[in-house]
Amino acid sequence: RMRRRQVECRGDIDTFTPGLIALYESLKPSEEHKSKQQQLVDSLTKSVSIEWPNAQLHLYGSCANSFGTSHSDVDVCLQMEIGTGSTVEILLRLAEILRTDNFESVEAITGARVPIVRMSDPGSGFSCDICINNLFAVANTKLLKDYAQIDQRLLQLAFLVKHWAKLRGVNETYRGTLSSYAYVIMCINFLQLREPKILPCLQAMEPTYALTVDDTECAYFDEVHQLHDFSAENKESIAKLLWEFFHYWAFHHDYRNDVISIRLGKTITKQEKNWTTRIGNDRHLMCIEDPFETGHDLGRVVDRQTIRILREEFERGAAVLQYDHDPCVTLFESYTL
Ligand code: CTP
Ligand code: MG
Repeated sequence: RMRRRQVECRGDIDTFTPGLIALYESLKPSEEHKSKQQQLVDSLTKSVSIEWPNAQLHLYGSCANSFGTSHSDVDVCLQMEIGTGSTVEILLRLAEILRTDNFESVEAITGARVPIVRMSDPGSGFSCDICINNLFAVANTKLLKDYAQIDQRLLQLAFLVKHWAKLRGVNETYRGTLSSYAYVIMCINFLQLREPKILPCLQAMEPTYALTVDDTECAYFDEVHQLHDFSAENKESIAKLLWEFFHYWAFHHDYRNDVISIRLGKTITKQEKNWTTRIGNDRHLMCIEDPFETGHDLGRVVDRQTIRILREEFERGAAVLQYDHDPCVTLFESYTL
């Protein structure tokens, strides 16, 4: 298939910024949404504390990393000593307790990479995933939240990209496309690579925060209030950045050789990571390094077919922003088979 490489962005791209910002504003969760989430956390805390009085409840994922929309679910991590029991036993017991406490559709999903209990809260209708002792998720949640405070264009870009990915059907890991988390990491890396830079590389700076998980030190500079004018020299609009984002993933990213790394604030080679061949189910066709679990490729589920779908969607995104007369609508047209 021939790829036409677009080089220059249309001259009037900035005229679409107000429309995109308005869309971003409409996606932000309301105060009511946040207070309902808090109520769910409170009732969950109550349910859990009787059986496990020493357990600590952490929110992670989009309800705590500031990338949550009003459609996002609630992700909870229980931190506890598990003694002689196993995580799976704890999850099965937890599912029992939640059913007794009238949560709905309670289901223990124990075969996943991160085993969870999934349930729905009848009061709010929220869906909620609960995992045990997954402190990497707690650390990466804080990292994303801290990045979001440096320049507001990260939140804007990531909300638009997540929204686009959901509507275009490319936000489904069980079907071989990418998680919301992977999209946010792609946005961070992209902004680290702008000239002038919009985001720094917090893990390359003098650490002011550290959490040790298993044998891995999750450390980075978290005094982000000191970085409020880091990006002052870059004046790119959100419309331009969104076009550049799609353009990068459509035409510039070297899928054959490169891995994106927010840990290092650049791209590195598959060779350096030993990600050159398929190992088990990890195909390494689109490589996105997890910032802390560095052996973990967030694009590992992408296969030969879905990489083609993803690249076509990136190309479509770039083309719509380039040529369409109403890109703020066309870009987000939902794709159904
Ligand atoms: N996570 C992870 N490793 C992955 C996927 C997810 O550590 N491969 C953790 C991250 O902490 C992430 C959280 O699980 O923030 C939730 O993942 P996901 O549902 O992809 O992202 P959300 O930000 O919660 O997105 P959404 O708004 O779509 O719920
Ligand atoms: Mg989530």
